[in-house]
Amino acid sequence: MKPREHFGSRFAVIAAMAGSAVGLGNIWRFPYVLGEYGGAAFILVYTVASLLVALPIFFAEAVIGRRSGSDTFGAMNKLAPGTAWKWAGLITILSPLLILSYYSVVGGWSVQYLFKALSFDFTGGAAEAEVTGYFGQFISSTWQPILSHTLFIAMVAGIVLGGIKNGIERFSKVAMPVLLLLILFIVVYSLTLPGSMAGVKYLLKPDFSRLNADAYAAALGQAFFSLSLGVGTVLTYSSYVKKEENLVVSGVGTAISDLVFALVAAFAIMPAVFAAGFEPGSGPGLVFQTLPYIFNKMSQGMPILSTLVSVSFFLSILAAALTSAISMLEVGVAYLVDQKGMNRRRATWLLSLGVWLLGLLCSLSFGPLADVKLLGRNIFDLLDGLCSNWLLPLGGLIFTLFVGWWMSKPDVRDELTNGGTCNVRIFNAVYFLMRYLAPIGILVVFLSNLFL
Ligand code: PFF
Repeated sequence: MKPREHFGSRFAVIAAMAGSAVGLGNIWRFPYVLGEYGGAAFILVYTVASLLVALPIFFAEAVIGRRSGSDTFGAMNKLAPGTAWKWAGLITILSPLLILSYYSVVGGWSVQYLFKALSFDFTGGAAEAEVTGYFGQFISSTWQPILSHTLFIAMVAGIVLGGIKNGIERFSKVAMPVLLLLILFIVVYSLTLPGSMAGVKYLLKPDFSRLNADAYAAALGQAFFSLSLGVGTVLTYSSYVKKEENLVVSGVGTAISDLVFALVAAFAIMPAVFAAGFEPGSGPGLVFQTLPYIFNKMSQGMPILSTLVSVSFFLSILAAALTSAISMLEVGVAYLVDQKGMNRRRATWLLSLGVWLLGLLCSLSFGPLADVKLLGRNIFDLLDGLCSNWLLPLGGLIFTLFVGWWMSKPDVRDELTNGGTCNVRIFNAVYFLMRYLAPIGILVVFLSNLFL
């Protein structure tokens, strides 16, 4: 058997993991969820949820992944041979593929918006109504969103085909720092808009009256989605991490980068939303509807700068979406390559095709299939609800129970302290969070989904 490929350096590990974590979840989802639950108070709850519940689950996945050096299914099989745990591992292979099918639809929107920005459609002096009305018109049409979705999936497959070192690592190394610079640039610009200070206040001054039980569940669900937890992504990436790497440092680095990106994205978007007089709680269209409006306004004074800003923004969304999407596909590819002996090329094409087909339905659910509904939700929303509210937390629960209650404590310690050479003093605290706090946090999400 070929020796398993490994990430080349600590920076590469954090860059790839942060690349998976940072994506549409931070830039597209976080701002509108934040807007639905009232701003600063939600940020506080989200931060606590990320660090105290989500991060321990990250460690649990990392422990399983590196200890086994295998994909999700193989990992459980190796660490708990002859038990039913392997089936639990299988669930987590399915969910990232389901997520990818609708994620790539939104990824496709960013492709389309990039083209629009490149052809000066937002900054070329079009009428305001035309620019603001574009989003609804675009997502409800048939062919254009499908084309964008197809382009997006093709890019993802292309990068995954390059293998770990050539594809993901190289791409993540360049994309992540560039992305941060691009968004920071937009933050600075946003803050110069008249009226933007109301947005800053919204993000900094907590209004606790908006926090209901629903908001706590939403914060946890968002933390799962944002850190790519419970779907075997962190597990699979960790199986490519060398034994000398410090998993706790990689985890903390990833969680902090993810938080920073989410906050920076909020500071890029909210002040602009307020400056323009939009409603922060207007839902999933927030980023895609508001920014073109802003860019259009901006172009009246500064045509070149506004084009630059709009192009860089949609480019950064696309880059972030791609690095996340790659990790979703990689989980399934690793499984087919390791367990079924399939070659990498075939596994990648096969899964991409399946995801593309399901994605077609998600894309059409805003247009011709808009009336196909269950419980009042279209196909896209159903899939998103199934994944964020159920499959991700379920996967997280499986991993944390496996590490906290099935694996022996000395084994977990060995993995998290690299045989007693690092993190020795904090180990017990981390272990406590993995064993108790994280599973309880997930159960809270389940119960609130069921009863609230
Ligand atoms: N964390 C990604 C984001 O915030 O956009 C979404 C994601 C990536 C979810 C990978 C699940 C996953 F396996």
